[in-house]
Amino acid sequence: MVRINYVTPAGDPVEVNAKPGESVMEAAVRNGVDGIVAACGGCLSCATCHSYIDESFLSKLEPQSDTEKDMLEYASHVEGNSRLTCQIEVSEALDGMTVRTPPTQD
Ligand code: FES
Repeated sequence: MVRINYVTPAGDPVEVNAKPGESVMEAAVRNGVDGIVAACGGCLSCATCHSYIDESFLSKLEPQSDTEKDMLEYASHVEGNSRLTCQIEVSEALDGMTVRTPPTQD
C-alpha cells in the first residue's frame, strides 16, 4: 500500500492507503475524499479531479500530456503544482505524498 495524504477543501487531512496501479483520483473516490469529484470517471474530459501536488513529488510524476494541459485550462484555481489526479498512477515512489484539493471544482 502507498500512503497518500489528501487535504479536503475544508482543510481536513485524510490519509488513504492507495493501491499501486490505481490513479490518485481513484484512491480518493474509493475512500470518499471530499473535493475530488471526478465527474468523467477518469477519461480526461471533466477536470473535476484537479488537485495540488506536493512540490517535492512533482519530479516523480509522469509529465503532463498535452490533453491534460488543455483540460486544466477548464479548471478553476489553477496553480503551478496543479494536476489532474486521474492522470497520476499510484506507485511506491509516491508514498507519503500530499494532495491538496482546490476550494471548488467549478
Ligand atoms: Fe475527469 Fe480526471 S476525472 S478529468
